[in-house]
Parts: sequence; C-alpha cells; structure tokens
Amino acid sequence: MKVYLIFITFGNLLHLFECVKKDIVFVVDRSGSLTSDDINGTIDFIYNVTSYLDIGSDNVKISIVSFNDEVHTEIKFNDYSTKEELLIAIANLKGMSTNGGTYTYDALNHVRNSTLTSDGARDDAEKLVVVMTDGASIDLVATIAMADKLRNDLSAELFSIAVGSKPDQIEIDGIANDPDNYYVHSVSDFLYLCNMIPSLVPKLDEGAVANVASDCPVEPGVTTEAAAVIEETDSSSSNWVWILAAILGAILIILLLICCILFLKKKKRKPKEKTETYKNIEFSTSRPKVQGKAISFRESSILSNNGWTSGVNKELVESSIYNLNRESTASLSSVMYRDMFQFKPESKQNQWVE
Ligand SMILES: *[C@@H]1O[C@H](CO)[C@@H](O)[C@H](O)[C@H]1NC(C)=O
Ligand SMILES: *[C@@H]1O[C@H](CO)[C@@H](O)[C@H](O)[C@H]1NC(C)=O
Ligand SMILES: *[C@@H]1O[C@H](CO)[C@@H](O)[C@H](O)[C@H]1NC(C)=O
Repeated sequence: MKVYLIFITFGNLLHLFECVKKDIVFVVDRSGSLTSDDINGTIDFIYNVTSYLDIGSDNVKISIVSFNDEVHTEIKFNDYSTKEELLIAIANLKGMSTNGGTYTYDALNHVRNSTLTSDGARDDAEKLVVVMTDGASIDLVATIAMADKLRNDLSAELFSIAVGSKPDQIEIDGIANDPDNYYVHSVSDFLYLCNMIPSLVPKLDEGAVANVASDCPVEPGVTTEAAAVIEETDSSSSNWVWILAAILGAILIILLLICCILFLKKKKRKPKEKTETYKNIEFSTSRPKVQGKAISFRESSILSNNGWTSGVNKELVESSIYNLNRESTASLSSVMYRDMFQFKPESKQNQWVE
C-alpha cells in the first residue's frame, strides 16, 4: 500500500513538472443531418473527454466551435479558468439546434483565423484540432486544403472523428494528420462515441488515462481497440510459432529420410551369406602376397606386358588360387582380375597367409 502511494505521488510530481501547454479545439458538426440526440451524444463525449484532461493555464485549454452554414464559437480558450466551470459550460451546450449544410471548410478557416490565433489561444501551446462530423462537407478539396493550411501555418495536429456511414473517407483522412490509424477515429453511431475515449484521451494529453464508461454500449461487429491489439499480437506471435514448428518438422523429416536411405544402402552392401571378397586380384609369376582377405599378386611385370583381362569367371579364380596354393609358382601368367569378385572358399587351402 505504501509503495503504491509512493508511486502515485511520484507520478503526480512528474505530471506537475511536465507542463505541456495544449490548446485543443473541438470542431462540432451541427448540420441538419444530426438529430438532437446526436448533438447531445457529441457534447457528452466532449464533456467526458475533457473530464479526463489536465485543464489549466499551464496545461490543457479547451475551445469548442460548432458549424453548419455558419460557424459559431461556443467556448473560447479563456472563457473559464477552472475545470468545473468549463465542464458546466460544456454540459450547457446540450440541446443545441441542428440544421443547414456541412461547411467544414468555413469551420477550419475560422479555427485558423480566430480560434487558434486569438480567442485566448496561447502562443507557446501545442495546437490540436478535433473535427467531429457525420457527413461529407460541401467542398472536399477546399476542406482538405484548409486542413493542410492549419497544419502548415500553425503546426496544428488534426484529428478526425467520423460518425455514421456517410462521412467521405477521403475527406476524413485528408483532414486528419498522418498516420491515419492514429489520427482518424470512426464509429457507426453517436451512441458508440464513448468507446473511443480511452484511446483518444492519451493522444490529447499524454499523462491522462481514461476508461470506457460501464454503460457504454459495445459497437456491433467491432472489437474494442485494446482487444483488437491483443488479438493481433496474439495471432501474429502464434502464427510465428506455427511457421517455426512447421520448418523444424520438415527439417526433422528430411533428416530422418536421409538416415533411412543411408542405413538401407549400408545394409544392402552387406552380403547376407558369409562370403569372402577378393579385390584387385592380380596374377603373376612372382610370389603371391596376401593382405587380409584380399589377395593381391604384386610385381606383375609379365601381366602388365600382356595387358589386363577383366571379367574372369569365378571358377577360374578359384582354381588359380588353388593352384597357387599348391605350387609356389603360378602358371596363370596372362590373367589379371581387377574387379571385385566374390566367392566362397571351399576349403581352408584357399586362405593365404604370408
Ligand atoms: C438533449 O439535451 C437537452 C439538455 O439536457 C435536453 O433538453 C434534450 O431533451 C436532449 N435531447 C434529447 C433527444 O434527449
Ligand atoms: C480569414 O481567412 C480568409 C481566407 O484564408 C482570409 O481571406 C481572411 O482575410 C481572414 N480573416 C481574418 C479576419 O483574418
Ligand atoms: C460519459 O460518462 C458517463 C459517466 O461515466 C457515462 O455514463 C456516459 O455513457 C459517457 N458518455 C459518453 C458519450 O462518453
């Protein structure tokens, strides 16, 4: 418990020294396509987001601009000095009327001309713009061009929050900074705005942490962002495990096959019957030399003169050896046997020992 408290205090201290000034403008679509419920949902959302931020003259300040055919500044950065007053003012925006067209370009122009340059904006604050809309603006090209101007002229960071199925994705992505997967948020209905609060709040104020409200309805067919991230890393890591296992398995099978082939080959080479193998048998008139089981007759001068004869049959070799065994000088002066030849000695006589 003590350790826990120390950590909390330490975190708060860090937070105090952080002192990142941020001017955040919410740009709220109030065109005719929105219902009173939708506007109330939007205001609830901004209220809840703001409640998680570190509001103060050295920290975060909030402004709210609404638009349809016209642009209205609802709350300026310097209208309220405390978070409590600010939250009450935001709550009072509920019930705002909706009508007219989606002049997003005008709203962004207003943000550039007034909200972020006067209206209590601080020169030394980072500038963030959160655009909330349910439909395509009447001028996509001009809207994106003005968003770019805000980025270039004021170094503003723009977020898009698209609600419903009507927003033009090109416009939504064009308004937002890059990468879109960080700056663009979409939900299918105002009802589900509450789901994006935990991911949006830390992007607006690094130190802030927010949870999903317990009564927040889950959007059908959409996994929550946190769950999606876990699922993604899970499936990608398990994919890797499977791929590795498959490679190892394949290597093992190949090694086993190679072993089997080598083993079978070795087995094949082994003669089944007990026979003796005579290699490079050369016959000459000189004394025979016996090396182990291979009989070879060296100094084959006569034979090399006469040339080699291969393919000698078994009987001939057998009888030759028998003859050589009996008489110390050989008579087989014209025969050489080079190739491997196998035969079964009939008697011990055929075993030569020097
Ligand atoms: C929106 O909020 C206002 C103010 O709280 C309320 O009067 C109005 O009935 C709400 N609209 C809906 C559709 O609930
Ligand atoms: C606002 O912006 C427009 C277009 O960028 C410009 O023509 C106009 O002079 C600006 N107004 C103010 C009051 O700065
Ligand atoms: C705002 O927060 C309240 C209290 O947690 C919650 O009941 C409500 O659903 C939230 N609304 C939105 C839009 O976030």
